[in-house]
Amino acid sequence: MTTLSLQGQDLLTLGDLSAGQIVALLEAATSLEGRQGDVLRGQTIGLLFRKPSTRTRVSFEVAARHLGASTIYMTEDQTQLSRGETVADTARVLSRYLQALVVRTGAHEEIEELAASADIPVLNALTDHYHPCQVLADLKTIREIKGTLNGIEIAYVGDGNNMLQEWIQAAAKLGLSLRAATPDGYGPAPEVLDLPHVKAHPPTLLTDPAAAVAGADVVITDTWVSMGQKDSDRKREAFAGFTVDQGLMAKAHPEAIFLHCLPAHRGEEVTDEVLEGPQSRVFDEAENRLHVQKAVLWAVLAA
Ligand code: CP
Ligand code: NVA
Repeated sequence: MTTLSLQGQDLLTLGDLSAGQIVALLEAATSLEGRQGDVLRGQTIGLLFRKPSTRTRVSFEVAARHLGASTIYMTEDQTQLSRGETVADTARVLSRYLQALVVRTGAHEEIEELAASADIPVLNALTDHYHPCQVLADLKTIREIKGTLNGIEIAYVGDGNNMLQEWIQAAAKLGLSLRAATPDGYGPAPEVLDLPHVKAHPPTLLTDPAAAVAGADVVITDTWVSMGQKDSDRKREAFAGFTVDQGLMAKAHPEAIFLHCLPAHRGEEVTDEVLEGPQSRVFDEAENRLHVQKAVLWAVLAA
């Protein structure tokens, strides 16, 4: 098994890891695929989710079981957070019971505060800013289908929030070519673009989906209206012309693949034809969430 030096560490964004650590996680995910054991026997992983989830919750819970650990899933209303107990106190208390805490929340500052107050690894299961476990699964999917990440051209079409911002971090760390098209006013946050490693290897930011997709090996999109966002009608108006349809896919490399973190809103950010078409690898991508989650848990708790 690959040697990884992530024991006891948080995973809040791939931007906190080195390229070597990201690649080692991908390799660990491949090695652990289909394997079960008891390397985490006796350990308990908490999942604290302020937003709904299908893939992230279930893949983390199954991954933990495959490694011999047990899990406790907590929604906001099932904890004293709902009655105003502070995030810091919650983190300090949960650290006395659990060996790792997987967190899905809104503001990224909240997971940073949790991580700062917890004595156990805190793993980001989605914030408004980042989605590291999803992009690890995307990278694994691309590497398996294309055989490499070297020289792969990635195009992202859609909103400039968590998925794109995580992709910007990953592309900067791994030296990947990333072109992103977002509508005016919906680009990535300046503080992400100002990070030193992103400035050293910035994405190409565009407002024309066709220009982003031209010749790309991978086309990625995400929902226009993320969880917790309001003003959805205004957003749908702003995103007109950003649907990934067959016409847009035809501008990519003929062997390009289509990825989407899911859940999809068919007819908005992607058409049925593309999602169900031969270039779509979204269910392989979803499956890879499980393999990657196993690698992450193994790396921070057992490697
Ligand atoms: N892609 C993703 O994070 O899906 P869930 O919201 O179902 O976890
Ligand atoms: N951008 C989406 C991702 C869901 C996995 C959201 O935040 O709702």
